[in-house]
Amino acid sequence: MNVTTVADGVYQLSVNIENILFEGLWEIPNGVSLNSYIIKGEKTAIVDGVCDWDGVPETLFALLDKLEIDPKSIEYLIINHMEPDHSGWIEDFKKIHSDFKIICTGKAAELLEGFYDHTENITIVKDDDILDLGNGHVLTFKEIPNVHWPDTMVTLDQKTGTLFSCDAFGGFGSVTSSNYDDALTQDEIDFYEKEAVRYYANIVGAFSMPVEKAIQKCQDLPVKIVAPGHGIVWRENPQKIIDDYTRYAAYSKGIAKERISIIWGSMYGMTEKAVNFIKKIIEKEDIEVDIVRVPESSWGTVLGSVWESTGIILAMPTYEYKMFPPMAAVLDELGKKKVTKRKAFRLGSYGWSGGAQRELDEIMTKQRMNWEFIDPVEFKGSPSQEDLKQIENQVKELVKLVKETVNQ
Ligand code: FEO
Repeated sequence: MNVTTVADGVYQLSVNIENILFEGLWEIPNGVSLNSYIIKGEKTAIVDGVCDWDGVPETLFALLDKLEIDPKSIEYLIINHMEPDHSGWIEDFKKIHSDFKIICTGKAAELLEGFYDHTENITIVKDDDILDLGNGHVLTFKEIPNVHWPDTMVTLDQKTGTLFSCDAFGGFGSVTSSNYDDALTQDEIDFYEKEAVRYYANIVGAFSMPVEKAIQKCQDLPVKIVAPGHGIVWRENPQKIIDDYTRYAAYSKGIAKERISIIWGSMYGMTEKAVNFIKKIIEKEDIEVDIVRVPESSWGTVLGSVWESTGIILAMPTYEYKMFPPMAAVLDELGKKKVTKRKAFRLGSYGWSGGAQRELDEIMTKQRMNWEFIDPVEFKGSPSQEDLKQIENQVKELVKLVKETVNQ
């Protein structure tokens, strides 16, 4: 838990969450931070909050205490996004302070009633509405629907140029008191960039079109600092995370990095033999490669890998006339997250019958993924030398296709 100063009159209260599945679903091996912000003008506002998990609201109150802020002095609670990872603490807050005003969008107000039966003292704001806290801290609001829920908005403090962006421009990864890009080493920035990609693919990726619209809106604002609800604050180079998000949103449409993800699973080591062979031949190619095994690795890890890859190799056996089930499940999820138009190659072992291809085609069609596949290689049982030669040819063709696609 940290209290840090973002800018004049603006403070961050940050709580790390670890050892949970985020949204009850996503593995977060490096944790995630929940960031709240205090803006102190003549009046005090808190922007976003934390979840209601055991001890988390109490931690937030302890951080307020460190700042010598009496919770009862908080006049405004600005809810950029109503998802309970940011709003769950409200019920605890109401137990110690009942006289505060909520500022949020109309959609968030509906959700507040649905989740917490809260309907009082709510001011609904729209694009360019203003709240003056005094001492120059004039707040402007912009709706950015579907980044991540339909209720979402961002808040800009005109005095400091701080953009409180909630889920937008966020990332996974627990933070320390050096929670600012200007206080981090390049290695640490690289770490948080990887965590941002994984976060984007897992949480925001399905909403890449709304992300692009949100970025356009934010670019019209005089942003000097990007202060998201998760991850680090971008104070030295706020444009970096905006540019990164612009790239991540574009990756949804198919052309990503000059990189291949090998997603594979194996029952008795037959498909694994082919994967081991691919590892040897692809390391001689001049291309970045990432390798993920299912089901040993989670959906979130697979999504984080493929999001940045233009090429994908799927290696899995047929299982009872269909595709190896964990691969089918993860591919369905990639479709839901709109990982579209990748260049791909499938290979794998079968026993008494094929069937993986049929299910792959069904998923591609159902999720409208539009992946371009080169011819697959299937082998009965263990791959023969001839099968491996074919696989080598196809992998080289895929590498060529990926390079041409990225450099076109
Ligand atoms: Fe961090 Fe969509 O909540």
